Amino acid sequence: MTKISAEGICKSFAGPRQRVEAVRSFSLDVREGEFVCLVGPSGCGKSTFLRIVAGLMEATSGRLEIHRDAEDGRPLNSMVFQEYAVFPWKTVSENVAFGLAMRNVPRKERDARTAEWIDRVGLRRFAHHYPHQLSGGMRQRVGIARALANDPEILLMDEPLGALDAQTRTVLQEELLRIWQSRRKTVMYVTHSIEEAVLLGDRVVLMTAHPGTNKAEFTVPLERPRTLQTTTDPQFSRLSYQIWEELRDEVQRSMEENA
Ligand SMILES: Nc1ncnc2c1ncn2[C@@H]1O[C@H](COP(=O)(O)OP(=O)(O)OP(=O)(O)O)[C@@H](O)[C@H]1O
Ligand SMILES: [Mg+2]
Repeated sequence: MTKISAEGICKSFAGPRQRVEAVRSFSLDVREGEFVCLVGPSGCGKSTFLRIVAGLMEATSGRLEIHRDAEDGRPLNSMVFQEYAVFPWKTVSENVAFGLAMRNVPRKERDARTAEWIDRVGLRRFAHHYPHQLSGGMRQRVGIARALANDPEILLMDEPLGALDAQTRTVLQEELLRIWQSRRKTVMYVTHSIEEAVLLGDRVVLMTAHPGTNKAEFTVPLERPRTLQTTTDPQFSRLSYQIWEELRDEVQRSMEENA
């Protein structure tokens, strides 16, 4: 079943002199329970597209349909933002509980789910700390825990591990794989890392340089469950390289444009 269907999405912004075309006729269908990774050069419109899917902004034109499950009080989507989007005046625990509190989830269940997700992202000792008392990587983990605790139908993640050091990133990639394997949520995941996209995704969708449109897409044939060991599979490196070959021109084009 198709969960998200976006067709011919265009988005332009009013600039100081002229309009900036951020996304040009981009189409993407995501099946229920599918993990789709979106990759493209910086400034190609990935975050813009994700925000449109999240309902945080409107497309200039195009059609977006999201298939809702039966109303059971769960939120439709939760977003993990590219920058650390946590409330600085709330503790880790209050941040993670935020979506649940907004939905009036009973106190006991809220506390249990909050504690569970804080544990999962390895922040138990910091549950009562404020964001400014945490490292950048820890703050990003708070954002991830908050989105997951919410148990949304769709998870939209904008470079959730992008700001992390390589080791923390690897640990969280494995954690994300584990979580996804147990829940099979519909995920749209933006990353700059081809390897991360191949490790996590069922499908990798490439966008062209600015203005972003469809460039190519690849189905990832690697078996699940996957772990970090999957990266040693020859299929893994072959596919990663194949994707890079398609992406290289776009990255070059985007760098020349910005030079
Ligand atoms: N609110 C806005 N107002 C005006 N222009 C915007 C706005 N948001 C994005 N843009 C422009 O739209 C284009 C796409 O931006 P977007 O943030 O979606 O790119 P991106 O692919 O997420 O890049 P990155 O990989 O660097 O995060 C850029 O040229 C950007 O300057
Ligand atoms: Mg972005």
